[in-house]
Amino acid sequence: MSKRIVVGITGASGAVYAQRFIRLLVASGAETHLVVSPLGQRLLHDELGMEGVNLDALTGGNAPAVTLHNYRDVGAPIASGSFRHDGMVVIPCSSNTLSAVATGSAQNLLHRAAHVTLKERRRLVLVHRESPLTLIDIRNMAAATEAGAIVAPANPGFYMLPRTIDDLVGFVAGRVLDLVGVEHDLNIRWNPGEKA
Ligand SMILES: Cc1cc2nc3c(=O)[nH]c(=O)nc-3n(C[C@H](O)[C@H](O)[C@H](O)COP(=O)(O)O)c2cc1C
Repeated sequence: MSKRIVVGITGASGAVYAQRFIRLLVASGAETHLVVSPLGQRLLHDELGMEGVNLDALTGGNAPAVTLHNYRDVGAPIASGSFRHDGMVVIPCSSNTLSAVATGSAQNLLHRAAHVTLKERRRLVLVHRESPLTLIDIRNMAAATEAGAIVAPANPGFYMLPRTIDDLVGFVAGRVLDLVGVEHDLNIRWNPGEKA
């Protein structure tokens, strides 16, 4: 059965992770609900050359598969626990949004949807990107994890012998798809027997 997944894009470097993840989600048939922070929009512009949130570019030409929610509309369906879904992924996730999740702040739709995901004991995956980490980030990661979130930093493995940036991005996107139970056929599984 296809999934219903909420996706948040925030102002951390790595807009390409969001694009790849959304393309794979949509290709799996998942019902996708998207909310983008203002700095997330800036990253889409700076790193992918997008004007506004270009759903065609984000989905690879399948814009109708995504419902875009206004970041300021804290009354949108995804702000309510009664809106049932199979998980929320914040990709990429800034330290600012990590902090909001860790403290339960819900001043905008993205933070509210993340908070509601935790309150309903659903899966929340934070694809955090920052380096180096402050002790504040580390403590916020601990608090978010204690509250039920999964912090899955955007750091690809190299054991699959990646050759392109696309391989590295696919590795991160594939691991996150695994975390929300979405099927994919990316080559990300370590199988030493097969390589021997
Ligand atoms: C080009 C650019 C790159 C950024 N990269 C990061 C980053 O990798 N990680 C991070 O935590 N913040 C990064 N920031 C800073 C955040 O965008 C900023 O803290 C912002 O308040 C995050 O807001 P949001 O969480 O609502 O998107 C970046 C900002 C810009 C303009």
